[in-house]
Amino acid sequence: MLRLEQVAAWYGSAQALFGVDLQVDAGEVVALLGRNGMGKTTTVNSIMGLADIRDGSITFDDIELRGQAAHRIARLGLGLVPEGRQIFPNLTVGENLVATMRRGPWTMDRVLTLFPRLGERYRQSGGRLSGGEQQMLAIGRALLTNPRLLILDEAAEGLAPLVRKEIWSCLTALKGEGQSILVIDRHLGPLMSLADRHYIIEKGHIVWTGQAAELRANASVRERYLGV
Ligand SMILES: Nc1ncnc2c1ncn2[C@@H]1O[C@H](COP(=O)(O)OP(=O)(O)OP(=O)(O)O)[C@@H](O)[C@H]1O
Ligand SMILES: [Mg+2]
Repeated sequence: MLRLEQVAAWYGSAQALFGVDLQVDAGEVVALLGRNGMGKTTTVNSIMGLADIRDGSITFDDIELRGQAAHRIARLGLGLVPEGRQIFPNLTVGENLVATMRRGPWTMDRVLTLFPRLGERYRQSGGRLSGGEQQMLAIGRALLTNPRLLILDEAAEGLAPLVRKEIWSCLTALKGEGQSILVIDRHLGPLMSLADRHYIIEKGHIVWTGQAAELRANASVRERYLGV
């Protein structure tokens, strides 16, 4: 479904990705792991048309994404929950959800059933939600675009343990429905049971990739690259 081949991304004169290869098949949950500053968000931004890519290719169902505008890439069926929420603070919860909504199995009713708190605060401005509620809003908004591939960049970061748990169980439910997901996180714990396959990135290089069971069995890789 999604295939990155030898992607090189830059910030000005500094190179951030050095030939990244990564693939997500239909119905798969793939995790991209790595410590702070290793290139996870840059990889996501490269996919979404928000990075300066100077080499390699990124295809989504064999359509080349490199060089396409971000809004066109989103419309091809990629839904991003960006790092740091990035909801519209001056729009209401409802307006945030409707803004990028597209037809498909995810309807407003379904999203409000999944996150009842968004329904209770439907007419309140997004900026007045708690951190966890804003995170739910960001996820709900991405789902309402009915993406074929959902990408989450640290979607549970900085949240209370109970809310984190809620978000992970929501992702497990989505996986059960066959949703393809690329999930980025610094913490391996919850991803161990969620992801089918893992990639580990270090300083802009993919340094390890394998099935969930292989990572579970490989304590030295976990220790070396993730410190767990
Ligand atoms: N806007 C930017 N301008 C210049 N350099 C940047 C910019 N954003 C990121 N970088 C650099 O690119 C590298 C990769 O950063 P990236 O944000 O992809 O890391 P990350 O793995 O997502 O980290 P984190 O876990 O902290 O979110 C880092 O060395 C970072 O300093
Ligand atoms: Mg990041």
